[in-house]
Amino acid sequence: MAARRAFDTMMNGKQVNNALRNWQQIFLRANWGLFVVTTERDGITEVNPAFARMHGYSMEEMTGKSILDLTAPEFLAEAGGHMVLGEVRDSYEFDSLHVHEDGHRFPVQVDIINVRGDADELPYRIVSVRDITERKELEATLINAREQLRLLSAYQEHLLEEERKRIAREVHDELGQKLIAMQMGLSNLRLRYGADPTLLGKVEELHALVEDTIDVVRHVASNLRPAALALGLVQAIEWLAEDFSQRYKIPCRVETSSAELVLDDVVATTVFRVVQESLTNVSRHAGASEVNISLQCDKHQFQLLVRDNGRGFDPAVVREKNGFGLLGMRERVLALGGRLHIDSAPGKGTTMMIDISLSNPGKT
Ligand SMILES: Nc1ncnc2c1ncn2[C@@H]1O[C@H](COP(=O)(O)OP(=O)(O)OP(=O)(O)O)[C@@H](O)[C@H]1O
Ligand SMILES: [Mg+2]
Repeated sequence: MAARRAFDTMMNGKQVNNALRNWQQIFLRANWGLFVVTTERDGITEVNPAFARMHGYSMEEMTGKSILDLTAPEFLAEAGGHMVLGEVRDSYEFDSLHVHEDGHRFPVQVDIINVRGDADELPYRIVSVRDITERKELEATLINAREQLRLLSAYQEHLLEEERKRIAREVHDELGQKLIAMQMGLSNLRLRYGADPTLLGKVEELHALVEDTIDVVRHVASNLRPAALALGLVQAIEWLAEDFSQRYKIPCRVETSSAELVLDDVVATTVFRVVQESLTNVSRHAGASEVNISLQCDKHQFQLLVRDNGRGFDPAVVREKNGFGLLGMRERVLALGGRLHIDSAPGKGTTMMIDISLSNPGKT
């Protein structure tokens, strides 16, 4: 109302005439639909050509129709609800589905503007309607592309895991066996030439070097595909936690609902990789002095928590940055129909949570 009074006082009679002519042109030439509904008469009173054209009717055919006459019957209940909400607010916007004269459906965006009188009565409403077929098609294409990317990424993860398994086997079996053979050979040398102190010193040095190399090979193979994963998820996570504690001198405890969790291989590998990436993040970003991992599982649901008491971060801000760790974890969990949630704030530590429904294990 205040806006209208300001408009009225600003304009003299001539200016008002000019302004009305301009608005009339907008009404007639706009390429989006516009119509007016008054409370005195049922149905649409004034309608612009674009609105009639959009629905395949002439201007005359439009007059007297109500917006609900143009709404697809399967959308009537929802549209009716929106119209009621649209009456109590000054302006209201919703997406709807309309029917063309030839019967085809098309999506529209409806904007209602309620024009109230001085006593807050509602003499009329102006409704603008846009055909949003292109926007909806684009949205569907985007959703589809996203879904395909997700499938592709899940497939590539699968290939990567298979490749890791193969390399781990080769590193462990081929390289590991050869190193053990070398170690045995060196032990023989030690026995045979033990009397020569110079030679013995060299043999001992080589023996220690081979032993270290065997440890490195085991570590590389375990990181690629922990042998513990074949024994069960709990053992594999305990191995990760122990390795992390030793390497970074940060205590890392594992708590489980049961000593043995029998999970599908894909789920177990996903959980293992999430814990692995979470611990890498703790070591790189958190500055924590303590980490707790909890694995809870019943017949229907699996839940993982990785909690650190480090510096924390704001997930809303970080989401826009270009790290791939969190994104990769989320995608892996989503591919199993699960959910990943990050609870963190600067100075408050970080808790990484995943929930996976075991009765409905997603698409992978
Ligand atoms: N436990 C944590 N404590 C503090 N900050 C964290 C933690 N985990 C993640 N972050 C923050 O979230 C950001 C994104 O993590 P993300 O794992 O996606 O990427 P990154 O670790 O930076 O790189 P990469 O792609 O190698 O994983 C990090 O850069 C860090 O700022
Ligand atoms: Mg990371």
